[in-house]
Amino acid sequence: MKRRPVRYVWIPVIIALLAVPAGFLYVDWSKSGAGDGLYSRKWSPESVFAYWNPKAFYTSVETVSGVFGGPQCVNCHQAVTPGIVRDWQASRHAQPADRGPVYCSACHGNNHENLHLPTPEVCGSCHAARHAEFEDEKRFGFPSHALAMERAQDAPHFVDKPKAEVSACLQCHSVATKCDSCHTRHRFSAAEARRPEACITCHSGPPHPDDETYFASAHGRIYLAEGDSWDWSRPLVKGNYRAPTCAYCHMSGGRHQVADKSMWKFGIKQINPLTSNNAVKRKQWVVLCSDCHAADWSRDRLAELDAERKQAWEKLYAAEAVLKGLRKDGLLSPAAGERPPYPNDWLDTLWPRARIGFFEGQASAFYNVSPIERDYFEMWYFDNLGAYKGAAHGDSGAVSQGHAAMDNALKAITHQAARLRSAGEEEQGETAASAELWRSGEYTDFNREHN
Ligand code: HEC
Ligand code: HEC
Ligand code: HEC
Ligand code: HEC
Ligand code: HEC
Ligand code: HEC
Ligand code: HEC
Ligand code: HEC
Repeated sequence: MKRRPVRYVWIPVIIALLAVPAGFLYVDWSKSGAGDGLYSRKWSPESVFAYWNPKAFYTSVETVSGVFGGPQCVNCHQAVTPGIVRDWQASRHAQPADRGPVYCSACHGNNHENLHLPTPEVCGSCHAARHAEFEDEKRFGFPSHALAMERAQDAPHFVDKPKAEVSACLQCHSVATKCDSCHTRHRFSAAEARRPEACITCHSGPPHPDDETYFASAHGRIYLAEGDSWDWSRPLVKGNYRAPTCAYCHMSGGRHQVADKSMWKFGIKQINPLTSNNAVKRKQWVVLCSDCHAADWSRDRLAELDAERKQAWEKLYAAEAVLKGLRKDGLLSPAAGERPPYPNDWLDTLWPRARIGFFEGQASAFYNVSPIERDYFEMWYFDNLGAYKGAAHGDSGAVSQGHAAMDNALKAITHQAARLRSAGEEEQGETAASAELWRSGEYTDFNREHN
């Protein structure tokens, strides 16, 4: 009799042993669809994705056949794509200092029926140091350029959107999968990449208003007034520029990574700026500012950023507390189980959870949530992130605007919560009826069928 419990011990052990390979098989299977990443079975690529993520999607044209040498490529393409040839001719690649030209074929191959588009590895075959720096960024985690593509593709809300939005994600997040985001093809000009315009095609708009806050700052205004007369052929180091650009601060010394000094990580969660790791990063920032400012003065300016963040998080946590109270009392409506789960989120189908705040996964709670949760989302994702970028980049207008908006949002959320509490049963019945509409509404079904 006494032995029995010992035998039962094997059951969980065997289940655990089977679960590990089953988990690997599941991930492997889910990645084997027409798309890419964790949700590859839920979407299929458009033809332009071949250019944004060539490693995953590019296959050569087969309309021209033949194996050509570099000068032949240039000759024929002078007629086919004259703009490309002109840009190439004006680039360092056409006239390097100490070797023959880097012809079209160096990046695209010689066989016209087996062309390729250069991935970072291809550029890295000649620019090993820059490529290695770029890859090394991965160790700093998200957000980062080197991991940007997988970050977008593996986001739980990624394939739950209309096709046009899915495409937009990959255009910006392609900064990870090709090297021509900042020095555009076929000029590949370092001077172009040093200027702020190289970054703002992607770094603008409400969740990341880097464009808006930089150009409103003292630095941006000096750039606007004088930038055209600066000598952009000079590297981004001390003494070469009167005011800093995006790359001056975030790729200091020309180092090809943007995440190494990042502390606040986009502003979406609270961090402790005083950990030893962050103290090292802060020191690097102060060294950078000290190219032009006094060190103590710079340290104080950056401490003001931390103070602004502390204030912002007090407001955000207050709003989260209101939502958590509603959830506890069953007043979030539609409730977690009454709306469509994110695709592949089978755990959520079995065990629906309202996710309130970053640490519960609010990072993905965009639109299939109750109205009051959506209000919180906008407060956190737009008002808060706007204030953060204002504080980080020295745009005090954006800071006060962001905080005023957060104050209003907190008031509205508190007010709305009180209303939900007093409205009680009656109104809840109404929203429960519309919950069915959410779970399988026209919008949700259409997106799922057309991605
Ligand atoms: C005899 C003319 C000719 C020569 C020589 C030639 N090309 Fe092309 N190339 C074309 C034409 C025409 C197209 C457009 C094909 C199409 O759109 O189907 C093209 C398209 C391309 C593309 C775009 C492929 C895509 O999928 O968008 C690349 C890259 C390219 N060529 C590179 C090269 C390289 C590298 C060489 C030399 C090894 C070369 N070409 C030599 C005529 C030529
Ligand atoms: C230093 C590398 C490099 C060289 C040299 C180069 N290309 Fe490209 N080319 C690229 C990159 C990067 C892309 C964009 C790839 C992507 O979108 O994934 C590209 C894209 C293209 C495309 C397709 C997209 C478009 O804009 O139409 C064509 C066509 C093309 N190149 C032709 C040429 C020709 C012709 C030459 C020579 C005159 C040449 N390339 C030289 C790197 C190079
Ligand atoms: C076959 C080798 C080779 C390949 C492949 C190559 N490059 Fe280059 N690259 C060079 C050489 C050589 C120079 C010129 C260096 C000089 O003149 O000092 C250069 C210069 C550059 C410059 C500096 C331009 C400037 O304004 O100073 C950039 C940026 C650049 N390459 C980017 C790229 C990118 C991006 C790719 C991939 C799409 C790439 N290269 C692929 C050899 C290569
Ligand atoms: C083609 C689009 C694109 C361009 C151009 C671009 N970026 Fe980014 N950048 C992104 C994306 C996408 C992310 C977020 C990646 C993620 O989610 O992990 C990002 C992230 C960043 C981060 C955040 C790192 C962190 O840890 O929070 C910084 C800083 C940054 N970029 C600076 C720059 C600078 C400076 C330039 C210009 C020299 C630039 N970027 C050009 C798309 C771009
Ligand atoms: C206009 C360019 C652009 C578009 C379009 C875009 N992103 Fe981003 N994304 C960025 C930039 C820039 C950042 C980095 C912001 C920062 O660090 O301030 C970012 C950050 C992120 C993050 C990072 C947050 C984190 O914790 O790492 C995720 C996830 C993300 N984007 C997913 C998506 C998805 C999914 C889509 C499409 C629905 C999308 N993005 C569309 C530019 C873009
Ligand atoms: C986020 C923007 C951005 C991306 C993405 C980017 N670069 Fe650059 N690149 C720059 C900037 C800025 C400079 C000028 C650096 C300086 O002033 O020293 C530059 C300069 C260069 C140069 C010129 C010579 C040198 O070493 O300074 C090369 C080569 C180069 N990049 C290669 C690459 C390669 C390879 C990749 C892809 C792995 C890449 N770049 C991706 C922004 C970028
Ligand atoms: C004077 C230097 C400076 C300039 C110029 C600058 N930034 Fe920043 N940026 C910062 C600082 C400081 C932070 C906050 C870093 C931290 O503590 O995490 C920041 C944060 C960011 C972040 C979020 C990453 C993070 O660490 O949270 C992005 C993305 C970003 N900047 C992009 C840009 C872009 C794009 C431009 C140009 C339009 C630009 N920056 C200009 C200093 C600068
Ligand atoms: C390449 C030089 C340069 C670098 C690097 C630089 N700045 Fe500046 N900054 C200037 C100049 C020039 C001005 C305008 C003159 C002034 O106010 O000192 C300025 C102005 C400012 C202002 C507005 C001051 C006021 O009184 O209105 C702030 C704030 C600021 N910088 C913060 C920073 C911070 C923080 C860093 C580092 C993350 C930094 N700067 C890096 C050159 C630089």
